[in-house]
Amino acid sequence: MSEDFFRGRRLRRSRALRNLCRQTNPIQADKLIMPYFVVDNGDPNYQKEIPSMPGQYQLGLESLLKKLDKSVSQGLANILLFGLPKTKDDKASEAYAEDGVIQKAVRRVKQEFPDLLVITDLCLCEYMSHGHCGILNENGLVENDPTLPLLARTAVSQARAGADIIAPSDMMDGRVKCIREALDEAGFSGIPVMSYAVKYASAFYGPFREAAESAPACGDRKSYQMDPANAREALLEAWADLDEGADILIVKPASAYQDIIKLIRDNTEVPLAAYQVSGEYSLIKAASANGWVDGEKVTLESLIGLKRSGADMIITYFAEELLAKALAQR
Ligand code: PBG
Repeated sequence: MSEDFFRGRRLRRSRALRNLCRQTNPIQADKLIMPYFVVDNGDPNYQKEIPSMPGQYQLGLESLLKKLDKSVSQGLANILLFGLPKTKDDKASEAYAEDGVIQKAVRRVKQEFPDLLVITDLCLCEYMSHGHCGILNENGLVENDPTLPLLARTAVSQARAGADIIAPSDMMDGRVKCIREALDEAGFSGIPVMSYAVKYASAFYGPFREAAESAPACGDRKSYQMDPANAREALLEAWADLDEGADILIVKPASAYQDIIKLIRDNTEVPLAAYQVSGEYSLIKAASANGWVDGEKVTLESLIGLKRSGADMIITYFAEELLAKALAQR
């Protein structure tokens, strides 16, 4: 008897069949990027859990190295560093200081873990007294062009410290070009730029701003980060950054923007990263702490979704934990 319907269940009959036919793999160590917050407050052993991000910490340099010792041995291959400087001002001086928090951290981390890929987030908000991502004018508006040289200078100083990839997250126009030129001139033509090309003005960054102490003192970031309602504009931003010399693109946040991940994947050729941001992490952690969802399963499913949408790599605060668990289960 011939059948006139599709027997999709045939390939779901056993674990082995399901594994054989699985189309995406969410936990590949070399595709996961773990963010860390490094603090320069005079105490290298400093370690303080971030209340809104259970399991994530502000770390002094020695505490970071200790954490890396463990996570690298568990397979962690890529990290993204954010810095909390000793002092903030209206020129973000510590962002490009020779002995700035990130510069010191990158030098030490690369010394201790030469094979670990170190990406530096490049933004001025953590270093500005007012918490905005660029120079503020007297009307409280972020000035685009005067901000560019500061970003370029920061990029070069991060590269000089040993960063493997520079990741600008500021959303100023023309910054990739400016950073690329500055890196080339300083002899770093081999250092890739991983651009937060498509970055929305999102409430999902809430916990991060507590973690990085970078909330804007006044106003918001809507004059530079994108309107969550816009999809076509994402393509303009992505193409602009590619024209300017970006090597890898980032879409951020991730889960609520999977259509954008797919759009960028389908219309560009470069490697694409999805950034599962702080708020996405906190929502899963909170619901799982309440016993409302199975945290581990929901985490995996969220990452599978990002891979399925077309992300080649994922920046996620779950990276460390996932790799530790995957190792334990082997
Ligand atoms: C810096 C920056 C932010 C994030 C990454 N880089 C914060 C922001 O733009 O306000 C957010 C990351 C997260 O929420 O996990 N500009």
